[in-house]
Amino acid sequence: FWARPRLGRLHPLCPFSPAGLRRWLSSRAPAPRICVVGSGPAGFYTAQHILKHHDLAEVDIYEKLPVPFGLVRFGVAPDHPEVKNVINTFTHTARSDRCAYYGNVTVGRDVTVGELQQAYHAVVLSYGAEDNRVLGIPGENLSGVYSARAFVGWYNGLPENRDLKPDLSCETALILGHGNVALDIARILLSPLDFLRKTDITDCSLAALACSKVKRVWLAGRRGPLQVAFTIKELREMINLPGTQPVLNPADFTGLENAVKEAPRPRKRLTELMIKTALEKPREKAVMAQAAVPRQWGLKFQRSPQEVLPTPDGMRVRGVRMALTRLEGSGDSAKAVPTGDMEELECGLVLSSIGYRSLPLDPAVPFDTQRGIIPNNLGRVVGVPGLYCSGWVKRGPVGVIITTMNDSFDTAQSVLEDLQGGVLDVSVSREGFGAVGSILRSRGIRPVSFSEWEKIDAAEVARGKAAGKPREKMVDPQEMLLSQGRPAPLVQGGTVCCLPVGSSKQNRQGH
Ligand SMILES: Cc1cc2nc3c(=O)[nH]c(=O)nc-3n(C[C@H](O)[C@H](O)[C@H](O)COP(=O)(O)OP(=O)(O)OC[C@H]3O[C@@H](n4cnc5c(N)ncnc54)[C@H](O)[C@@H]3O)c2cc1C
Ligand SMILES: NC(=O)c1ccc[n+]([C@@H]2O[C@H](COP(=O)([O-])OP(=O)(O)OC[C@H]3O[C@@H](n4cnc5c(N)ncnc54)[C@H](OP(=O)(O)O)[C@@H]3O)[C@@H](O)[C@H]2O)c1
Repeated sequence: FWARPRLGRLHPLCPFSPAGLRRWLSSRAPAPRICVVGSGPAGFYTAQHILKHHDLAEVDIYEKLPVPFGLVRFGVAPDHPEVKNVINTFTHTARSDRCAYYGNVTVGRDVTVGELQQAYHAVVLSYGAEDNRVLGIPGENLSGVYSARAFVGWYNGLPENRDLKPDLSCETALILGHGNVALDIARILLSPLDFLRKTDITDCSLAALACSKVKRVWLAGRRGPLQVAFTIKELREMINLPGTQPVLNPADFTGLENAVKEAPRPRKRLTELMIKTALEKPREKAVMAQAAVPRQWGLKFQRSPQEVLPTPDGMRVRGVRMALTRLEGSGDSAKAVPTGDMEELECGLVLSSIGYRSLPLDPAVPFDTQRGIIPNNLGRVVGVPGLYCSGWVKRGPVGVIITTMNDSFDTAQSVLEDLQGGVLDVSVSREGFGAVGSILRSRGIRPVSFSEWEKIDAAEVARGKAAGKPREKMVDPQEMLLSQGRPAPLVQGGTVCCLPVGSSKQNRQGH
């Protein structure tokens, strides 16, 4: 009788429907209202765990962009559609009648964390890492140098990077860093166009890649083969990429077979694959075929970037000066120490892929600038009761979606324990979106609901269908809003404002 599937079919006004049951229960005790900031994996998994393990809690998710899912939409490579299946789980959560999505709301600007804390019993910050680490070396801002974050955002249709227009007119590209993002970029640069055409890569980046002259990609890391941060599946994909040839120097792997014997299994298998690839003697037929291979990629080790070198006219990049390094210590904790020798690597395109970085959100929220995280204890923000964090902003910009899921479940568990243990006072009801909606209205911000996102989604899928793609992403926030028949919006910073009738520009800018 109480079982969810049966209740789910009942009319919401029926006292035995989930909504009716909640109303009945909440007439006795106010439902905990929880707010989550950010709709990436961390936000959605935190919401999912709270909703699953608390029968009354209601969760509102606020997202800066009109569209949800964070790096699943804007980071995961277009040729990895299977990874994006987590969106189905997130959609299921968003459709729960105890969950609401409010896109197009930049927390910290459109509404403060303090205001959210007034409106909710608990606030969970899951806003990811929206910036990138910088090398801090001369020439880093030369034309032809891009952060991996911007490049990934560009081919994935992130609005802020849609106009990047990377210059792909050179033959040699250098990617700095040995992580999975570096491999993603190398693969996108070298993949046959016919592969990419069937993905959700944006039309304009596909057109730019079609004209690309890049045929050689070096990936340079400051440490050695035993310290690479990428994983075996991604390396294997690169090795098997049609029309490309891996160029690994056997000398880089001398003695490593023994050294890796005792290493954990993933590291051992990864190293063995690199060694095998480096030492593989191609058979005669394959040699002939390789002679015709138009594209190459390779790994360079123990090279630390010191300066991006300009062309004689000073206008753009012509190479990178690298310090050769030796390793002090062993295994993951080995440190790269310059030997004093230098080398110049010629290239016309540099992609700095040395990691993402979280930013502070609001003066009310403590932030560890050194580590780039919100200081926390099992997701509880240090010194601010009722405030929590999950995902990359909690533990730094590393870890795949599963890692983020586990970490978000831990934070959700902390929230649940604090609800149960009375640390969070739910005796007084909170207005939730009732209060926040008024604040946003007064500031001219109109949130996008999940059903509105579903209209954008349907429009994107329909546009992609004609070209045989899973979707053609909208890259302009204004277009996203117009596609739902909204009045022409204005863009402020990143958020799109829909002016309520009679409101003035001064009102909007006054906040
Ligand atoms: C290029 C790239 C490719 C990746 N590929 C894979 C892969 O193939 N497989 C895999 O398992 N993992 C992959 N990962 C890792 C995975 O994406 C992360 O583990 C995960 O996305 C981190 O989740 P998050 O929710 O903490 O951050 P995010 O996914 O970044 O989500 C944060 C959300 O918060 C929003 N936000 C930011 N500021 C505000 C604000 N002020 N107000 C409101 N909302 C805000 C953002 O718009 C975003 O939607 C990849 C990572 C990158 C960078
Ligand atoms: N397919 C996938 O599953 C997938 C795809 C993309 C991303 N991801 C995940 O997303 C997370 C982020 O990936 P990422 O590639 O951005 O980060 P990452 O895995 O942390 O790799 C960063 C790389 O940059 C190097 N680096 C950092 N600072 C440097 C400096 N100052 N100079 C030179 N090199 C420097 C690091 O070398 P050191 O080790 O020497 O510091 C490392 O090789 C990772 O957990 C990754 O696995 C997964």
